[in-house]
Amino acid sequence: MHILRSRHAQFSKFQFLERELFCFLFRREMTVITASVAASKGRVLIIGATGFIGQFVAEASLDSGRATFVLARSFYASPSKAKTIKSLQDKGATVLHGVIKDQELMERLLKEHEIEIVISAVGGANILDQLTLVRAIKAVGTIKRFLPSEFGHDVDRADPVEPGLTMYKEKREIRRLIEECGVPYTYILCNSIASWPYYDNTHPSEVLPPLDQFQIYGDGTVKAYFVAGSDIGKFTMKAADDFRTLNKSVHFRPSCNCLNINELASLWEKKIGRVLPRVTVTEEDLLAAAGENVIPQSIVASFTHDIFIKGCQVNFSIDGPDEVEVSDLYSDESFRTVDACFDDFVMKMEIDRRKSANEGITTKNHGVEVLPITAMCA
Ligand SMILES: NC(=O)c1ccc[n+]([C@@H]2O[C@H](COP(=O)([O-])OP(=O)(O)OC[C@H]3O[C@@H](n4cnc5c(N)ncnc54)[C@H](OP(=O)(O)O)[C@@H]3O)[C@@H](O)[C@H]2O)c1
Repeated sequence: MHILRSRHAQFSKFQFLERELFCFLFRREMTVITASVAASKGRVLIIGATGFIGQFVAEASLDSGRATFVLARSFYASPSKAKTIKSLQDKGATVLHGVIKDQELMERLLKEHEIEIVISAVGGANILDQLTLVRAIKAVGTIKRFLPSEFGHDVDRADPVEPGLTMYKEKREIRRLIEECGVPYTYILCNSIASWPYYDNTHPSEVLPPLDQFQIYGDGTVKAYFVAGSDIGKFTMKAADDFRTLNKSVHFRPSCNCLNINELASLWEKKIGRVLPRVTVTEEDLLAAAGENVIPQSIVASFTHDIFIKGCQVNFSIDGPDEVEVSDLYSDESFRTVDACFDDFVMKMEIDRRKSANEGITTKNHGVEVLPITAMCA
């Protein structure tokens, strides 16, 4: 009996060691597989990572485990830009210095760092700087995909009034050069950022929705698609080396986030627990704001006119051979809802209110109750 027990003990010990060895090898194998999956994802260079859209893309690229390089100018325009670069670096990004107008430098950087995917999110004022970048990509010849700075509407289809039209003409010029050079591309058409669409603000998601009155464009019934910044980043990175998006336009049309401005206003009223007055901004008002030609506000006014009066995001169907809809490609993936994005604003207000209270500053109580909801839509 004793012998049996000790044999059993020895056997169990052996089994235990065997199991441990198996687990060790399995873990090592998984690490190797995970590392090789990360390595097998193309090495990405993001241009404009200190910018509004570029930050979302850079964060998503790092989250997806890719080798991520960001191009920054050698001086930072503001301390906040330096902070953004430091934070991306802390998350694993490699920072390269330079500007895309320097073709020789760009060719060297692309070769030296074996970049496979280039994503540009340069701002509206610098769209044509990409002409040199496209030429550098063509000269290097090893870039598998280029995503130029689009991140809005289909510029070949939409026809806003000036000065928005000039920006679209520049984006079209970049498209034509890409196509002429035979550079593999994907155009990301993500529609509007999920926030209140102020007609005079270029980055509305950085501003709280109204707390005094709503400005309703026209009769407020024209629908648009609203996409959270984090989803712009997430789906851009998914599309970046998907074979189904090669030489295609990728439209973002999350059905749960297709709202008109009246619906947007009602949603925000529910969040803040108050009804706000609504004033109408007519088509003529928007055209007049565009006509003032104050850059960049007039550009935003012309896009606002195109979206909420002419319906440029919803007045066509996606059925061309060179276009796909992002929800069709990634049907298992959910989008953050506008509802959830508005909760973020409420949370921000509450944090600011508490901070002010701690500092002894009395602020107007907007009657906001914080209800964290993490709604998603697939
Ligand atoms: N769908 C929407 O709601 C929405 C909203 C906003 C923008 N957009 C679109 O998104 C794109 C990006 O716009 P944004 O507003 O995010 O831009 P942004 O905030 O102005 O940022 C532009 C970025 O590009 C960098 N940059 C500019 N010229 C450069 C050059 N020659 N070389 C290297 N880097 C350069 C800037 O660097 P520095 O930091 O050094 O200046 C900055 O990081 C545009 O195509 C715009 O039309 C869409």
